[in-house]
Amino acid sequence: MVSLARRCKPKPPFPGVLLILTDREELDITDADAVNAYFGSEAFDAVVNCAAYTAVDKAEADEETAFLLNFQAPLLLAEAAQAKGCRFIQVSTDYVFDGRHNRPYTEEDETSPQSIYGASKLRGEAAVLGSYPEAIVVRTSWLYSRYGVNFALRMQELMQEKESLNVVFDQTGTPTYAPDLATAIFTILSHPAPEGGVYHFSNEGVASWYDFAVAIRELTGAKCKVQPITSDMYPTPAQRPAYSVLNKGKIKAAFGLEIPYWKDSLAVCLGK
Ligand SMILES: NC(=O)c1ccc[n+]([C@@H]2O[C@H](COP(=O)([O-])OP(=O)(O)OC[C@H]3O[C@@H](n4cnc5c(N)ncnc54)[C@H](OP(=O)(O)O)[C@@H]3O)[C@@H](O)[C@H]2O)c1
Repeated sequence: MVSLARRCKPKPPFPGVLLILTDREELDITDADAVNAYFGSEAFDAVVNCAAYTAVDKAEADEETAFLLNFQAPLLLAEAAQAKGCRFIQVSTDYVFDGRHNRPYTEEDETSPQSIYGASKLRGEAAVLGSYPEAIVVRTSWLYSRYGVNFALRMQELMQEKESLNVVFDQTGTPTYAPDLATAIFTILSHPAPEGGVYHFSNEGVASWYDFAVAIRELTGAKCKVQPITSDMYPTPAQRPAYSVLNKGKIKAAFGLEIPYWKDSLAVCLGK
């Protein structure tokens, strides 16, 4: 959400867009009455749902809340947006796939989430598009930015604190700089009549979490050693896809997007 805001002001590429940002205190998206009252009282042309239950491991023991946030809430928002005649974009995830591919996933590939988080996001996608076929679902992967809680920030902290870090090298995907996703979302919104449905977006290229960590170390000049380990040496409650690279052909063809290579965007994020 912060990345969307920073893409709007104070300079281009999208200076004419007036953004209304809400947080949980202002609008609890699981509260149907609050959502309907909000849509009745405010004027806007489009809604982008960046909110979600994103605690992937915690979701394994908190299925009800994960589905409330990732399925029921997006459905409420999509229905309210459709009733108001405004466009709707839902952000989703590469974790809808099981990771058994060895070539980038297209929007047509079969989904098979391996975690409660992935299953709840997939149900949310289906609910949104089932109730509002002109809505757009943007699946993305490995999001990071200068804000909030994310892998890139956490690695930088740990690299200052520790002499050595173990990072898994058998999960392959693509890091995505949140401002690049924000640019993609604004580009979609700039289009007069985009076709509804699912679109994949990440930065270009491929990396393991280990590669991502090594790139952070190289760009920041940290002295910490980064050691590759396998996922079974770092067990987590939720299973992650071993491979979740997204094919971005559809979004590039539809919107003429030029997508930065992940390491170039990481350098921008780190101010290098
Ligand atoms: N992070 C990734 O690597 C990644 C990868 C692929 C896709 N995605 C998707 O990208 C989107 C953004 O992810 P993110 O990592 O930026 O998420 P995030 O940092 O966890 O932010 C989620 C936001 O949702 C808000 N929220 C939670 N419950 C709410 C409620 N009932 N009403 C209103 N707001 C509520 C949270 O507010 P509080 O801070 O108050 O809890 C938080 O600000 C999500 O759809 C996620 O599934 C993320």
